[in-house]
Amino acid sequence: MESKKVTVPDVARMKAAGERITMVTAYDFAFARLLDEAGVDLLLVGDSLGMVVQGLSTTIPVTLDEIVYHTRMVARGRQRALVVGDLPFGSYQTSPEQAVDSAVRLVKDGGAEAVKLEGGVRMARAIEAIAATDVPVMGHVGLTPQSVHRIGGHRVQGRRAGERERVLDDARAVQAAGAFAVVLECIPLDLAAEITAELAIPTIGIGAGAHCDGQVLVLHDLIGLSSDWTPRFAKRYAEVGREVVRAAREYVGEVKGGVFPTEAQAFKPAKAVAG
Ligand code: KIV
Repeated sequence: MESKKVTVPDVARMKAAGERITMVTAYDFAFARLLDEAGVDLLLVGDSLGMVVQGLSTTIPVTLDEIVYHTRMVARGRQRALVVGDLPFGSYQTSPEQAVDSAVRLVKDGGAEAVKLEGGVRMARAIEAIAATDVPVMGHVGLTPQSVHRIGGHRVQGRRAGERERVLDDARAVQAAGAFAVVLECIPLDLAAEITAELAIPTIGIGAGAHCDGQVLVLHDLIGLSSDWTPRFAKRYAEVGREVVRAAREYVGEVKGGVFPTEAQAFKPAKAVAG
């Protein structure tokens, strides 16, 4: 397994070399370590933690403090992967100064090596300001879950009249503002292919088809840790949730039946010390 540390310039080099980029969300030390060992290139401490870790129905309530807290754990668990911290709703939209302060906090206190934020044309000034402080920024266009109330749900973007041009303009704006990569979420695959061909920076798709420069999945979808429902664009590579239930059931049965613990798991009594 390749063990050289992944850097921001490496991500650009991967696109140039035609090497597909892999990104997975991570929220804690244990999974960061495992994903890093598996060779995942980028670990995203996504605000999806609101939904898959905190049990919320949207990402909106997630706070910067929470992302900082989880980013610290992830940064401690990885050796090779690039750690990207997600700026949550309300931490960058007010002004470019607010965006810079939040990004700097994620890097200084959280240990992130880059930050991600949602939005295109409207967030260009924020991206520019963060990039000017030497914090690498990843954009995110198409379906932007923090805009769920404006969009009216988590639905595919770029299919309705006018939407296609808007997504294209957003992707162009993100690149022009200085982002080093951009997530394309839930857009038609031909649109993702067009953006990927036009942009010099890498595109990382989720629900955007196979023509992107890389792919990102939410950890819980990838390993089957959420409910049995999986978004159409995701693929479950394991059924860890079912395995957890199986193991915990076996443990419950063994404790109740007096099978666990045995002598093998017990400490012997202390030897009497001659007084
Ligand atoms: O928060 C997140 O997990 C994300 C990915 C879906 C790209 O933004």
